[in-house]
Amino acid sequence: MRSVFYRLFWATFMLCGAALTLTNTPLESQTLQIQEPKIAPTPPMGWNSWNHFARKIDDATVRAQADAMVSSGMRDAGYVYINIDDTWEGTRNAQGVIQTNERFPDMKALADYVHSKGLKLGIYSSPGAKTCAGFEGSLNHETQDAQTYAAWGIDYLKYDLCGFRDVMKTSPTPAGAHQMMIEAYKKMHDALVKTGRPIVYSLCQYGEDAVWKWGADVGGNTWRTTDDIRDSYVSMSNIGFGQAGLSQFAGPGYWNDPDMLEVGNGGMNANEYRTHMSLWALLAAPLLAGNDLSKMTPETIALLTNKEVIAIDQDKLGNQADRVSAQGPLEIWARSLLDGSKAVGMFNRNGAPMVMQLDFGALGFTGPFRVRDLWEGKEISTGNTGYLTTVPAHGVVLLKISNLQQ
Ligand code: GLA
Repeated sequence: MRSVFYRLFWATFMLCGAALTLTNTPLESQTLQIQEPKIAPTPPMGWNSWNHFARKIDDATVRAQADAMVSSGMRDAGYVYINIDDTWEGTRNAQGVIQTNERFPDMKALADYVHSKGLKLGIYSSPGAKTCAGFEGSLNHETQDAQTYAAWGIDYLKYDLCGFRDVMKTSPTPAGAHQMMIEAYKKMHDALVKTGRPIVYSLCQYGEDAVWKWGADVGGNTWRTTDDIRDSYVSMSNIGFGQAGLSQFAGPGYWNDPDMLEVGNGGMNANEYRTHMSLWALLAAPLLAGNDLSKMTPETIALLTNKEVIAIDQDKLGNQADRVSAQGPLEIWARSLLDGSKAVGMFNRNGAPMVMQLDFGALGFTGPFRVRDLWEGKEISTGNTGYLTTVPAHGVVLLKISNLQQ
């Protein structure tokens, strides 16, 4: 378990490292002296079945997603986890061991297949007796289930509160119910650790009870900060822009999770999906694609695999962006990066294009600097003190601003 002290120490260490880089001191050797967290040192990247397939998921579809993750170039861009969400579960055998249902004839063989592609396999359960879709949960079988997952070769567990609410209702007080939830999440964490297999532990309880304040202490590597995302600009933007103020709770090994991506599912236009990717990258969010990877347009692949945008999400400093300013529908979000530069999103939440002004001084830039537009993939010339540009409707201009050495 990571203590608050550890987290503060890590953040301070990494920030000092960033400052040293600015003065040209080689950082590499110094970074190596402290151990990165072994699990999720950067936000997990991969794919999850729920947003597109929901209950219509089976072994063949999962294999096809793994194939497409490789052939599309997504694996090489950093996407690793192939995560099966709810509805894989069967019943328990006489010894209480969880079985897969008929749509997943052999989970170990599926894991072997996914691993053979250089990818990892994730699975889903609930601390309750039932999952959200009404399948078998892990209540009273936590140790057994963790061992089964490890034996299958599972690398990631999404643990979704749902059915556990029935258990929480037996507490006479809200504080008692909260404590039950904490203990349930901790119980599965301890069971996963006991297997000896590194398994990313992803809490899903919809951002209730300020999970960002205790998620890391129960062993979570990520925790959902919101209710379920939908494939619409309204849903995505309410969730994404609603993350303001949470940056202090994330860092290497433990991440706020504003839910899976909807890029490529068809409910948003290109500018809106750019906003989705940009915001999630700035937020250091897990990047779990939620579309059908076997049927992607070149535009969807380009959105998901933009290396410079992914590099923002995966920056090792692990500093989640926060809102710098909001004027009506115009919002500026920024995060510090390990090399001393900053990633800055200029967002227009309006349904028509708007002119926006970025003030470099307000972001802490005084000396000479370089500005790169990450979606355009090129350096741009700006004024010395500010940048005036038109941002498309529901769109974004995503910049990386780097100090020039003097
Ligand atoms: C909840 C979760 C979703 C998904 C479904 C599956 O709604 O928030 O992400 O896992 O359950 O039933």
